[in-house]
Amino acid sequence: MITLDIPHFFCHEMEKISSHYKMDKPLVEKTIQTLLEKHPDVYQLMIQGQAYEEIQRRASYKRFIKAVKKDIYYQLRQYHVHQKESDALQGELKQLVLQEVPWEQMTCLLEQIMSTHISTKERLPFYKTFYHELFQVIDYPESIIDIGCGLHPLSYPFHTHHHLKHYIAIDKDKQVISILNDLASYLLPLIFKPLCMDLKNIHWENISDTQQKKCDLAFMLKIIPVIQRQNKALLNLLCNVPATWVFITGNIEAMTRKQTIYHREKQLLHEFIRLSGKKMIHTFHFDTEFGYLLG
Ligand SMILES: C[S@@+](CC[C@H](N)C(=O)[O-])C[C@H]1O[C@@H](n2cnc3c(N)ncnc32)[C@H](O)[C@@H]1O
Repeated sequence: MITLDIPHFFCHEMEKISSHYKMDKPLVEKTIQTLLEKHPDVYQLMIQGQAYEEIQRRASYKRFIKAVKKDIYYQLRQYHVHQKESDALQGELKQLVLQEVPWEQMTCLLEQIMSTHISTKERLPFYKTFYHELFQVIDYPESIIDIGCGLHPLSYPFHTHHHLKHYIAIDKDKQVISILNDLASYLLPLIFKPLCMDLKNIHWENISDTQQKKCDLAFMLKIIPVIQRQNKALLNLLCNVPATWVFITGNIEAMTRKQTIYHREKQLLHEFIRLSGKKMIHTFHFDTEFGYLLG
């Protein structure tokens, strides 16, 4: 790929874009270079030495800027990123599982793997507080169901929570589930059951394999706003998750832009609580995330 030089006057536009979106400048620059190749007319305008004010008025230039923003937005909307890195880390995980290394030798790699999923990565600085606060409010669970789990299950303190007997993790992302599956044999005798499925196909009665048919705890972390956007009707299904305690959370900052979405997400979570008819037992506020424990 030829790297096109971005004209100096365009740096201002680049600054503007990186101040709006949660993307580092080098990656914004790379995106712009890639798209300039697909918009040679705009590149020609830029290098012909026309006044920037003149270029800005051109329809082709406006289309180009729109395409850049759309591309950046699309890149930032991906949950599971760094594909190559993720594949390599998954290979290492398989090795450590085969070697049956002690848990302490696992944790560093698990953190690296969690960093490849945006939602889980954001929680890494405060996972300790997250679990500490949660288990001050409820007893250690024997069974967990994790809806739209991402790589969050990898954070669970399995090594100290020997009470846990079942952990069901559901996500539609194949690679996420494949990574989680690689850990299943290591966690035995705990029954760790990652399921690759779309929530729209869920029938709760077929999911829970605990004898009680109801889990102690359901994690629904950052998933309610996602489902609200995707398919509002599915929220009714989530309301009926078979669990005694339900932990729901939302984001404080947008996934793509540097702007707060706290009030919007809070409203969505409150609507969900009303719809579920459950009681709010506790409110949590972490660094970039807030949530409620329902019961
Ligand atoms: C915002 S992330 C949250 C991940 C995780 N709960 C966490 O907080 O770390 C949303 C996750 O839900 C999954 N997801 C989105 N829509 C889904 C659906 N319809 N069925 C199953 N999983 C879904 C995505 O693949 C993604 O991993």
